[in-house]
This record gives sequence, structure tokens and C-alpha cells, in this order.
Amino acid sequence: MPEYNLSPELIRAALTTVKYPGFSRDIVSFGLIKNIAISEAGGVTVDLIIESKNSDVPRYIYEGVMGVVKELQGVTSIDVNIDHHAPEAKKGSNDDPAAWKSSIAGVKNVIAVASGKGGVGKSTVSANLAVALSKLGYRVGLLDLDIYGPSMSLMFHTKERPGCNDKEEFIPVESHGVKLLSMGLLIEEDSPVAVRGPLATRYVQQFLRNTDWGGLDFLLLDLPPGTGDIQLTVVQTVDITGALIVTTPQEVALIDARKAVGLFQRVETPILGIVENMSHFVCPSDGQVYHIFGQGGGEREAEALGVPLLGKIPLDIDTRSGGDTGSPVALKDTADSMVSAAFQALARELAETLKA
Ligand SMILES: Nc1ncnc2c1ncn2[C@@H]1O[C@H](COP(=O)(O)OP(=O)(O)OP(=O)(O)O)[C@@H](O)[C@H]1O
Ligand SMILES: [Mg+2]
Repeated sequence: MPEYNLSPELIRAALTTVKYPGFSRDIVSFGLIKNIAISEAGGVTVDLIIESKNSDVPRYIYEGVMGVVKELQGVTSIDVNIDHHAPEAKKGSNDDPAAWKSSIAGVKNVIAVASGKGGVGKSTVSANLAVALSKLGYRVGLLDLDIYGPSMSLMFHTKERPGCNDKEEFIPVESHGVKLLSMGLLIEEDSPVAVRGPLATRYVQQFLRNTDWGGLDFLLLDLPPGTGDIQLTVVQTVDITGALIVTTPQEVALIDARKAVGLFQRVETPILGIVENMSHFVCPSDGQVYHIFGQGGGEREAEALGVPLLGKIPLDIDTRSGGDTGSPVALKDTADSMVSAAFQALARELAETLKA
């Protein structure tokens, strides 16, 4: 019996305080710890396995593990062994770069639409941007990865079930000129989404790896809010061309936006720009502009991050009702709708940024 009750369980518990860089979850719950051994003399060995393209990740984790273990009583020496490798290529197709795990076959640009805070309008921006890009003639797909609260079947007014090809890949449904895949299309309307933890991760991987998009210029990924395990799965499974960060002009939303930015920067995904949603309200009766959530936040944030402010979307009744009735406001003629015009401008800016 060691003098200080040093045990693998105790060390494992201590390691739950080490977070995966950029994420709120810890390295134990992500399953990175392969083995913990303790010698009679109090020598601790921790073996980890890390799949990441970013070589900073193992370094951060190494330092985190060392820092935590050396504080435990009775530890005389520490050995941290990290088996670090880039994510594996898809099985059986190593010779075909188009089929590699880090890219989605046949998709030119994969854009993550993210925010730190919930309810700032990621899904609204994703849906309308997808429609606006499609109106410009691009081939567009939209993957709703908010599998805890999927909203795209409502926003596109479809309940059609995705098909399956003979390679057992999903075939997205099509609505308003956009190819669509969402958990909401796979579950029954009144069944609660009981998709948690590892199952959620598996669904996300399946959507990303096993979907036959049939050739796209843009695939937009509508992410859930925050920096949780779905985001980690996404950045570990595919190569993202870049991320769009949606925020409102408020300082509190901007603080959260910074967390989302940090996450993508850590995995070396470029931030394409900021989209300021609900940026102002134009009173329909007298045209007066009200800055309900403050003013200038998007500009300041873009400047601080050194990325462009790609668009400002007004707060607008038709935008909300269009989302609820399955008829995105971006479908409207840009001459009749200021918001449709704002989404069109955002789509052009994005295409220009990516030289698509
Ligand atoms: N520009 C806008 N004008 C008016 N209403 C808007 C606008 N943008 C979003 N909304 C409304 O705000 C609510 C939240 O938007 P949305 O669901 O797009 O946010 P989200 O960031 O995807 O939320 P979550 O974090 O829950 O996924 C919805 O009811 C939507 O219709
Ligand atoms: Mg959403």
C-alpha cells in the first residue's frame, strides 16, 4: 500500500482538470488516456493517444498533464508518453486524395458557421446564406450539425427523409435550391432527440464522411453554440476551408465569439470573417434606424481579430417569420427586402474572399 494512496483512479481524476486545448471538455472524457501506471517507488507513467494535425495540441496537453501530476503527493517521477498522429485517412482509399478523411469528396469549400453564444442567429444565417449563394448560381449544401436542436427541417419546410445510395451513403434532400441534411430529417417529429455523447459524435462523423453531396461549391456547416464535443469532432474529421463567426453587436456576445474564434485558431482553421446579426432595426413606418443591441461591435471585433466584417444583417420581422414558416427571407427579391439584399451581399463577399 503506497504511503499516499496514489492510485490510477486518483491520477485519472486529477487529469479531468486538463482541458483539450480550445474546448471545455477534458482529456479524460475525450478518451485520450490509454494507460496509467505507478511504480512501487512512486514513478508515474501516463500514456496518451492524440489524433490531431496540429502539433501544438500534444505540447499543450503534455504540459497540462505534467503540471497536474506533479502536484500529487507521493509522485517521485513522471513519464508522459504521447502517441501523436494526424487523423487517419479513410480506409481502403489512401491513394485517392479526394476520399481522404480530411476533405469531403466533391466539395470545394467547407464553411463552418459558428458562435460562442446560443441564439445569435447561426441557423438563420446559415439557411439564408445557403439560399443566397444558390441564387448566385453556386451549388450549395447545408449540413445541420446542431443535433441536439436541429432546426433546418423547419427552416426549409421539409420533412422528406434523406435517401441512401448503394454505398450506404446519405443522399441529402433538396429544398429552395439547397442540398440539405439534418438530424431533424431523420427523427420522428415527436421523439425527443436522445442523442448524447458518443452517439452524437458518431452521427456527426457519419454525416461528414458518408454523404453523397454530388458536387458542391459550398458546404455550410451549421454548428451548435459553444465549443463542445461536436465542434471537436468536426475539426478532427474534416478539413474546414474556414469559419464564419456569427455575433450580435453586444459586448456579451462578442466575448463568447472570441472563444469560438480561439477554437478555430488552435486547430489552424482560418477565420473568414465576422457576420454581425441583428445589427440594427429599421422601423418600417418611418425608416428610422434603431441599434437595439448596440453599435459597432462587429467592426471592433473584426478589427481586433484582423479579419473582415463580411456582413451586417438587420433585425427584421420577415427574417424571423420566414425562419418559422420554412421560407427563408433570402428567397425574396433583393429589391423588395433589405435583409435578402444583405444576405446576397454577404454571399458575394464570401465568394470573393474564397475566390470561388
Ligand atoms: N436578423 C434577424 N431578425 C429577426 N429575427 C432573427 C434574426 N436572426 C435570427 N432571428 C431569430 O432569432 C432566433 C434565434 O435564431 P437562430 O435559431 O438562427 O439562432 P442560433 O444561433 O442558430 O441558435 P442556437 O444557438 O440555438 O442554434 C430565431 O427565432 C430566429 O428566427
Ligand atoms: Mg441553431
